[in-house]
Amino acid sequence: MKRKKVSIIGSGHTGSTLAFIIALRDIADVILVDREKNKDKIKGKTLDILQSGSILGFDTHVKSTVDYRDTAGSDVVVITAGVPRLPGMTRDELIQTNEQVMIEVTEQIVQYSPECKIIVLTNPVDAMTYTVYKKSGFSSERVMGQSGILDSARFNTFVAEALGIAVNDVHGLVLGGHGDTMVPLIRHSQVNGIPLNELLPQEKIQEIVKRTQNGGAEIVKLLGDGSAYYAPSAAVYEMVEAIILDKKRVLPSIAYCDGPYDLEDLYIGVPTLLGSRGVEKIIELDLTEEEQQQFKHSAEAVRELKSTLKG
Ligand code: 2OP
Repeated sequence: MKRKKVSIIGSGHTGSTLAFIIALRDIADVILVDREKNKDKIKGKTLDILQSGSILGFDTHVKSTVDYRDTAGSDVVVITAGVPRLPGMTRDELIQTNEQVMIEVTEQIVQYSPECKIIVLTNPVDAMTYTVYKKSGFSSERVMGQSGILDSARFNTFVAEALGIAVNDVHGLVLGGHGDTMVPLIRHSQVNGIPLNELLPQEKIQEIVKRTQNGGAEIVKLLGDGSAYYAPSAAVYEMVEAIILDKKRVLPSIAYCDGPYDLEDLYIGVPTLLGSRGVEKIIELDLTEEEQQQFKHSAEAVRELKSTLKG
């Protein structure tokens, strides 16, 4: 069977950690792409990953390159390129620089992998996913962004900590834009079937909601020189795996909504079905009035950001 191929654009902390996870799970060959000025650095990271295979027991092909021709025929391309968020900087302030990066890399991706699916991680991710969609000319099911798995994972971690239980038993669902307006859906969050509302007092839940909304910024502040990457790369990995192995996972993705949730021409975090065709379905939840208000507020924030895009 022909091996699948995943190209990762941008070999910073997130890109290289994602390469490592894919190699470790051995679901596809990996091409790590960066600019000429980082040529040696990515060569070094790739060698390092390959050498860990001797200990961890994988022999996945991992290759670094500065030439997009090496990405030809990729099944999935992940975009992590762009500048990260620095302390005090909002995701939204990144928009100008990263929009230009998205335009440049998308041209190259489309030229060499016209059949691929694209997953965007670069911030501000809802707006950047829209830019890539427009630039690619792909059908919307083939272009998506990552944030909901990460935001839900943060929520789950805080709930598990508060209850003193295993994080694997906590299933939260966070929708909306990847920013302060994201919407943790408490009604749909549970601990192996037990509604969260029955396990934690309202104030504690609200505290966890706030911390989740601030989850990226909390880590940016602590790190001092960049943003989170272990959980973000694990979150993208889950999407890559769902597509490469056609798993039909039900996962939150930043998907194109033009109709669903009463939205028009917007990329935002919603529950989706992920399989080999990409976003095979958007799952529409019946939201309460309050949830609808919160989701609408989040969509407005994303729309405002989108309106600042130049392209
Ligand atoms: C985060 O939330 C960087 O947006 C990313 O950590």
